[in-house]
Amino acid sequence: MDHQMNQNFSAYQIIAKKRDGLKLSPDEIKFMINGMIGGKVADYQISALLMAIYLNGFDRAETAALTDAMLYSGKTLTFEDISVVDKHSTGGVGDKTSFILAPLAHACGVKVPMIAGRGLGHTGGTVDKIESITGFKTSLPLEEFQKLVLKQGIVLIGQTPEIAPADKKIYALRDVTATIESIPLITASIMSKKLAEGARGIVMDIKVGQGAFMKKTTRAKELALSLSDTAKRFGRSMMTVLSDMNQPLGNAIGNSLEIIECIETLKGKGPKDLTDLSVNLAGGMVYLAGKAKSHAAGIAMAQAALDSGAGLTEFRNMVERQGGDVSQVDDVSRLPKTEMQTVFASPKKGFIKSIDCLNFGMHSVALGGGRRKAEDKVDFAVGMILHKKVGDEVKKGEALVTIHHHAHQKEIVNEIMASMTKNDFTWSAEKVRRPKLILDTIVTKVKK
Ligand code: URA
Repeated sequence: MDHQMNQNFSAYQIIAKKRDGLKLSPDEIKFMINGMIGGKVADYQISALLMAIYLNGFDRAETAALTDAMLYSGKTLTFEDISVVDKHSTGGVGDKTSFILAPLAHACGVKVPMIAGRGLGHTGGTVDKIESITGFKTSLPLEEFQKLVLKQGIVLIGQTPEIAPADKKIYALRDVTATIESIPLITASIMSKKLAEGARGIVMDIKVGQGAFMKKTTRAKELALSLSDTAKRFGRSMMTVLSDMNQPLGNAIGNSLEIIECIETLKGKGPKDLTDLSVNLAGGMVYLAGKAKSHAAGIAMAQAALDSGAGLTEFRNMVERQGGDVSQVDDVSRLPKTEMQTVFASPKKGFIKSIDCLNFGMHSVALGGGRRKAEDKVDFAVGMILHKKVGDEVKKGEALVTIHHHAHQKEIVNEIMASMTKNDFTWSAEKVRRPKLILDTIVTKVKK
């Protein structure tokens, strides 16, 4: 039996308390997290506590205390400027809104600090996608990042180990102890990182559906309320949007293909779902930043920035400042591309009833566009273009998907095509209603 004593606390007693369904104090929670970082509380004890939290829950105050302990396990940034607003997505397939909404929001006066992740699992990563542009640099010291956000307005860098190191450790333990799917643990994980990045407002895109982390709207709503409550306790405004992830967002899946789709969207020629969601989220950022009187007014401003081309100019400026090759923005055919494309033709006629979003994410990984292990290198050029979405009519033999691949990948392409024939689509003889894209919006604005 282990009874590490410190400030009259013992890891054993704290675990037992949560096991028995009792509430933990902020100091007890801090003791466990600091103990884990300092090597005084063992990983197996943290794992046991995580399972007790998973089973018996954490109330809002405990969740905030856990967030606080994780947040201060690393470096934190502070922005005094209320126009600094960040956006976070819980992750999906073809989710590329950051590259559209950040320039749009910045064109409306918002400063956007983006610390983004790489892809792992079936969802792609923002950093991998932007690195399709030759030379784009995504690593900067945090102090430099903070200065540049204030000076330049949008800066995009990759996650750094200095931000919330406790989350990295806890996430790895959750991953192997079946404790990922806990609302308080997810809340503390997301919020510790977001709060450490210092933005005064946060727009949260919570993906819901078959291709998302949250499969059910009720759970996603629970998460939205938990995130909003935590943001409020830390004095940050938040808008949470629940958006559909039962099919990929937009038409492109794959790093370079998604950047091309974003540039087209910033030119006003993007798919409707991607355009609408990006403008909606950008509008939320404009509102939280105090640059518009309401979310609706923010949306109108973001739409105007899209229509005038100001968003595209901001995107191009960001690429130039971060060392990227702007000739690839001006001429997207210069972005990485594969030497081969194979069309998957619809084996049936009818209306597309469903698309297996998760499988599309997995196909992208199989082609090399995503990672199976953190150390894998991604292939920027590979991916898929989905020509029809749920509700669209298709003729037999009409192109449904174009797979962008290399000559040596014929076997993988055959496997993907077999999956598309058997599993990835369903068709209906009757008209199918297009799914609703935005399912709910919750705004919690704090007084500045
Ligand atoms: N994203 C995170 O950063 N953490 C979680 O726990 C889940 C999603």
